[in-house]
Amino acid sequence: MSDQSHSEPAILAGNLHGIDLSKLPKNLDMSVETITENVIAMHGNCPDERTKFIFTKLITHLHDFVRETDLTTEEWMSAIHFLTATGKKCTDLRQEFILLSDTLGVSSLVDSINNAKPPGATEASVLGPFFTDDALHVENGQSIASEGKGNYLWVEGKVLDTKGNAIPNVTIDTWETDGDGLYDNQYAQRGGPECRGRLQSAEDGSYAFRAVVPVFYSIPSDGPVGGLLKSLHRHVFRPAHLHMMLQAEGFEKLTTALYLNGDPWITSDAVFGVKSSLIVDMTEETDAEVARARGFKDTQKSHKVLKQDFVLATPEEAVTARKALLARVVAK
Ligand code: BEZ
Ligand code: FE
Repeated sequence: MSDQSHSEPAILAGNLHGIDLSKLPKNLDMSVETITENVIAMHGNCPDERTKFIFTKLITHLHDFVRETDLTTEEWMSAIHFLTATGKKCTDLRQEFILLSDTLGVSSLVDSINNAKPPGATEASVLGPFFTDDALHVENGQSIASEGKGNYLWVEGKVLDTKGNAIPNVTIDTWETDGDGLYDNQYAQRGGPECRGRLQSAEDGSYAFRAVVPVFYSIPSDGPVGGLLKSLHRHVFRPAHLHMMLQAEGFEKLTTALYLNGDPWITSDAVFGVKSSLIVDMTEETDAEVARARGFKDTQKSHKVLKQDFVLATPEEAVTARKALLARVVAK
């Protein structure tokens, strides 16, 4: 017998512990060239095609990444330490993994694919971690912010379908930071909802509320993700924006945000939420009578005005838009 006698493994068949042996890898001697196909073959018994597909792609890209970067053991270990620290930073109130996904552009990408919109419909933007479900109801024309929380802003517009018809009774959630760039839930002592509100569009689809002028702010940067951005010499700023979430019977939920034109971070948002269709201009209103009619306390102060309509898609329109998007971007 030569030394070669064990080089051809016996082909195994049948079931062992309920596992179909014929669907397992056939190779010995994992090498840089063969390990990927072997790892993929290990889930040959998975009955769910989608799960199989996702993990086949994940392993393929992950292994290619290791080969293409010639990853060192030290670099791999430092990634393990980083992910461990990211997990340890997570609490019920803080999700460092989502922040990681946000800053790597993954959240925005998933969002854009899953919320493709038909032509004319308002585009989506990232939800972010600061939405809360306890915003107080405000009537049209009322304020979502207490006096002194920032510079005066009046927001108004209509909610429409893609054919231009008004949509009444749309539940509109809106939230923003105060003038210091902090959401109410970033303060150690949160008295209650602040700079956030929930309103309904009127019969003619219109909505209006008082708010404060959004300012640019820093994403949470005191954790491992902040450290990663620092090592990449990346900044941590989001351009000034106002979050909006619109929900109505018979329409796709829209989670979006309006971004202020002229913001210094508009083209380099730390979490890639900006879309050009969501960039808005404000005007300035100096007429004290208008300020009084809109309910601003200090009528001698001018206020900014942001006018924006929102166009909601139906579920059918959204499915068609998503199919068209995937046909365009997914390599066959
Ligand atoms: C936000 O806009 O609130 C946000 C989004 C992603 C990460 C951090 C903040
Ligand atoms: Fe935000």
